[in-house]
Amino acid sequence: METPWEYRFSCRAQAMKSSVIRELLKLTEQPDIISFAGGLPAPEVFPVEAFQRASKKVLAENGPKALQYGPTEGYLPLRQLIAEKCSQPGYQVQAENVLITSGSQQALDLIGMTFINRGDYLLVESPTYLGALQAWNPYGPQYVTISTDDDGLDTGDLEKQLRKGPKFIYVIPTFQNPLGVTMSLKRREELVTLADRYGVPIMEDDPYGKLRFEGEDLPTVAALDNKLRGGKDSTVSNVVYMSTFSKTLAPGMRIAWVIAPPEVINKLVMAKQGTDLQTPTINQYITYEVAKDGFLEEHIKKIVEVYRERRNVMLEAFDEYMPEGVTWTRPQGGLFLWLKVPEYMDTVDIFKDAVEQKVAFVPGISFHADGSVHNTMRFNFSNSTPEMIVEGVNRISMVIKKKMKR
Ligand SMILES: Cc1ncc(COP(=O)(O)O)c(C=O)c1O
Repeated sequence: METPWEYRFSCRAQAMKSSVIRELLKLTEQPDIISFAGGLPAPEVFPVEAFQRASKKVLAENGPKALQYGPTEGYLPLRQLIAEKCSQPGYQVQAENVLITSGSQQALDLIGMTFINRGDYLLVESPTYLGALQAWNPYGPQYVTISTDDDGLDTGDLEKQLRKGPKFIYVIPTFQNPLGVTMSLKRREELVTLADRYGVPIMEDDPYGKLRFEGEDLPTVAALDNKLRGGKDSTVSNVVYMSTFSKTLAPGMRIAWVIAPPEVINKLVMAKQGTDLQTPTINQYITYEVAKDGFLEEHIKKIVEVYRERRNVMLEAFDEYMPEGVTWTRPQGGLFLWLKVPEYMDTVDIFKDAVEQKVAFVPGISFHADGSVHNTMRFNFSNSTPEMIVEGVNRISMVIKKKMKR
């Protein structure tokens, strides 16, 4: 008898739905389209030669070890390097606090597995990273959204929601995806103070923090939380911090990390054992070889130059082509910016017309956990050349102008 598969799927699998937006985004895969839709780094800045040299060295000097299974926690020299790089004044990270994951996306899934019970409240920014919602939806949480503005998550809105007893707060404080905005220092301090007062942990997702084009670096929420606790011991913390090499070196390596207190790391390790045993040993060896001895910092300087120029070109193109009534964020780093059209417009309609004009973006609705906002759109500026950016923005502006009420 043929298996009717849909009746065999678990409730969890049934909660995994392909979104309308994902289906629409397939349209952007045509080769002649100018796409601002993905979140892809620029392939022309991938350090291909550094990876080539590192791979050769790793295989020549450590071949059998790099091809063997390794500990779930990750390759110790890489964990030590990350601990060193993530330490800030008053926030000393130890290798024991670091777990290597297969992308930050896996860290999000492990967090879902480890923390979320069906019906738990989770506080998320509105809008937030779509991939986090996708990772957590199968665990059946209820999302409570916190409003955001140019200074990031609105801490004024937060206290009221903290009283509902959420399981955790999820926040992308620096060059947020999809908004591109950065949470101010004052708000970061308020966030850690309020979270501490209500005893609610914070999940800090920080893939873009190193891609700063201008302005001062801000302390991570994890470091501020540590300061609040006397600034001595990073193992006692209210924050689970995630970051990745996807945006600074290459997403294809799938090397990312979590920094958390030991009891959280232990649970995440158990969850990871059942998921993939470990992140590929050879990718960890090679990434370590590439990232060490200052190469990472030098390479980041190069990509920041390229992305800063692309951001500038996109902002200038918006200034030049977008009609009155359209507004956008001005990110100081990262890969994205966020555009708002008048409320009577629906950006899914704009998207469909834009694709006919061979240009694409992501309609903002998919980033809102409550699906409530229809007039926003996310633009990626890292993955298109300046010429493509000008042409693409011009085409989209024409679609928007046609839909505007006069
Ligand atoms: C906010 C955020 N978190 C996590 C990820 C996943 O990154 P990774 O490639 O490390 O899995 C992304 C990727 O775009 C992201 O924007």
